[in-house]
Amino acid sequence: MAERRYTAHEEELEIKSLRRIIAAYANYQDAAEKDVKRYERSFKRLPPAHKELLFHLGLKYQRLRWCISMNASFIMNMLEAFEPPFNMTQYTDGGCHDCPEHMHGQNHVNCAHSSEMVDCSRSSITINTNSLHAQHGCPKEDPKTNESAREFENKKDKEVHMAGCFQPVGYNLGTSQGVDKSCNGDKHASAASNCQDTDCFASSADENVITGHCMDSPLQLDVPPVDVDKVRCIIRNIVRDWAQEGQNERDECYKPILEELDRLFPNRSRPPSCLVPGAGLGRLALEISSLGFVSQGNEFSYYMMVCSSFILNHTQEAYEWTIYPWIHSNCNSLSDNDQLRPVSFPDIHPSSAGITDGFSMCAGDFVEVYNEESQESAWDAVVTCFFLDTAHNIVEYIEIISKVLKDGGVWVNMGPLLYHFADSYGPDDDMSIELSLDDVKRVAYHYGFVMEVEKMIDTTYTANMASMMQNRYRAAFWTMRKDASRSKAQKRQ
Ligand SMILES: C[S@@+](CC[C@H](N)C(=O)[O-])C[C@H]1O[C@@H](n2cnc3c(N)ncnc32)[C@H](O)[C@@H]1O
Repeated sequence: MAERRYTAHEEELEIKSLRRIIAAYANYQDAAEKDVKRYERSFKRLPPAHKELLFHLGLKYQRLRWCISMNASFIMNMLEAFEPPFNMTQYTDGGCHDCPEHMHGQNHVNCAHSSEMVDCSRSSITINTNSLHAQHGCPKEDPKTNESAREFENKKDKEVHMAGCFQPVGYNLGTSQGVDKSCNGDKHASAASNCQDTDCFASSADENVITGHCMDSPLQLDVPPVDVDKVRCIIRNIVRDWAQEGQNERDECYKPILEELDRLFPNRSRPPSCLVPGAGLGRLALEISSLGFVSQGNEFSYYMMVCSSFILNHTQEAYEWTIYPWIHSNCNSLSDNDQLRPVSFPDIHPSSAGITDGFSMCAGDFVEVYNEESQESAWDAVVTCFFLDTAHNIVEYIEIISKVLKDGGVWVNMGPLLYHFADSYGPDDDMSIELSLDDVKRVAYHYGFVMEVEKMIDTTYTANMASMMQNRYRAAFWTMRKDASRSKAQKRQ
């Protein structure tokens, strides 16, 4: 695909927007510390008898700090490894709080999927793995462990080729690049029970400035709360895609899709191609690749891309990292230990997952990238998982899905219709076309789709399984096949 060219103005917006996202990540620890301080202030206001009763909370706050430092350590390693697709020293004047709403990741994210609009429209960040040669043992739980010898052979020198559609970015592999990993990257990290060791603090947040590959210029850490939330949501997405704890959710969401692809394409000696728009942190796209497809994830959120790039390209072994994803909410916990439990990831070593040649992540807005002529009839399958309702105009998404599929190609979908822009009452008056499932199907039929499989699947999205509150979706699952001869849209042209 042709390299995306930017106007100077677009590039300026991209850089400012990316800087804002990096600042949000870099500010993680400071923002979390503010929360702990707030808890402590409340605690101090208790009458002495109540304080005495809740004496253990003081220790909990210290444990929280330690967990925060572990999360921050992971984030700083991730940022250190990130090579921005732009020269970040440009346009250092002013912040990006006035960046257009729909530049990268400026939309709100909440972890219940509903507003997961970490929007990276017109993004050109590209994930590119140069080489992941080392063979590491896979965890027992990984079904890929039992791959055939041929597949194992194929893994050797396999590249998780994350060369996106646009400007490829090289990554330095296998280095921890300056950030002390001694406190993270520890598979055996205890549940923060005793550790109050602040040596682990990886960011120089106090200085309000950090440096690294992605931050050649000083970075102001004046981060709006909405951006802080996005970083916390990414942490939860890590569990969904890359932790053993997310296996249930993946079994509910990804497994039916993978089984369907397996059934639909029994012969994969010549690998069929599969596009995964809104790929999030990339696990589904990777699993599809491992199943024997030339798989391409598409994602427009820098928040997501920075993180998926790190996990896909820089993981050296399974369970290399430990984070504490649930510490940011004191609500609905059965116990403090539940709230402060560690989660290690990734549960597999991505480059040992038996990927098929041609695996890639393509950065950019689905509408912009795949509406190109070069994409017409390019794909055997399109898989959308919790993606359709991210559209401003769902009709446009369906039209493009139909366009990029070959005649006879299949569209496998799984997800709710919790339209992300439904509550956007901002000054920009975001367009939001909110259709019922019936209407979505009607639109699909108009574009030549024929329903082959249809069911509802109960599932969660980035849920904390130990929480007293669970949001469940009755998600629509379908397989539709493109029959170009039935497309009313084509007949009109
Ligand atoms: C709810 S998440 C689902 C992620 C993943 N498919 C999963 O099931 O975990 C929706 C994803 O779509 C991405 N997204 C939203 N609109 C997009 C667009 N126009 N082009 C590409 N990605 C988009 C978001 O950034 C987000 O990562």
